Amino acid sequence: MRVLGIETSCDETGVAVYDTGQGLLAHALHSQVALHGAYGGVVPELASRDHVRHLVPLIRRVVGEAGLGLADLDGIAYTAGPGLAGALLVGASVATALARALRVPVVGVHHLEGHLLSPLLGEPKPSFPFVALLVSGGHSQLFEVAGVGRYRLLGDTLDDAAGEAFDKTAKLLGLPYPGGPALAELAESGRAGAYSLPRPMLDSGDLDMSFSGLKTAVATLVRRVGSALDAQARADIAREFESAVVEVLVAKALAALHVTGLKSLVVAGGVGANRQLRVRLIESTSAARARVYFPSIAFCTDNGAMIALAGALRMDAEGAAGSSFGVRPRWDLSELRAPP
Ligand code: KG4
Ligand code: ZN
Repeated sequence: MRVLGIETSCDETGVAVYDTGQGLLAHALHSQVALHGAYGGVVPELASRDHVRHLVPLIRRVVGEAGLGLADLDGIAYTAGPGLAGALLVGASVATALARALRVPVVGVHHLEGHLLSPLLGEPKPSFPFVALLVSGGHSQLFEVAGVGRYRLLGDTLDDAAGEAFDKTAKLLGLPYPGGPALAELAESGRAGAYSLPRPMLDSGDLDMSFSGLKTAVATLVRRVGSALDAQARADIAREFESAVVEVLVAKALAALHVTGLKSLVVAGGVGANRQLRVRLIESTSAARARVYFPSIAFCTDNGAMIALAGALRMDAEGAAGSSFGVRPRWDLSELRAPP
């Protein structure tokens, strides 16, 4: 079954074709970073309009690159939520219209289900069950994943998500949007141990997390350093901030493996692109005789491939019958059901 996947939940237009027999056939992404950069963050109305401009040309390109015509598609999947309402509606409208014209089924996919399943796009593929560390701009969560649609929440952030903390801290350090990758790059030239920040909830005894206090600690530190905040001091603070977040995420992920007795850890979401996090997770899972799986960097952040994949797995399992149109800007992953 060949499924076209459409992702428009935020500031990237992502399109891909996934074949349940052959895997990913083609994918492309249009990033809106340059568009929103001047405003220091995503402007929802501009995001929607940009999706309108780029989505249809991107679909033409990706279907062509897959060596297919539109008539070769067996189904269409789009991100139905969570995300920006206007941006989601662009993907939902185009997906539904195209599906009706082609007389193929269409399915609305949960964005986080796409992230959770994204490591299945690579090789080697993790097999179910596994623990998933989902670290994106809006979520920092640990799940036990027993199969498609079978997600048990093990731990959650009590306030800011890890990516959100990266973005807000980057702003405090005067870095441009998007802050997370910029802060990670700055941290590379920082010295370890030059400053000391807390490791929130490291010893809380559960799998929950909290990152907003860490961001506040950086704000206090920046004020204290005052006029001595030169390029090196900023890099040192970035390094310490990154170390604090990474240490907490690694400790919680390992604790989740321990609690569930599972030996496979899957990392998904934009913060999964962080190099320090990857290095530390590889070290600590191997010490615990477990294994960690990452999506390739391109599939950590938002993309169409994970939506095509999740849609294809659902259509395959549920029988491809859907034709509904709708978006859910707020949508809890725990509401999802496993296919029959
Ligand atoms: O999954 P994603 O692309 O979008 C959401 O669904 O939220 O994640 C975006 C988040 C942003 O907060 C961004 O700053 C963060 O991932 N991010 C990173 C890195 N690359 C992206 N954070 C730390 N280090 C990175 N290299
Ligand atoms: Zn995402």
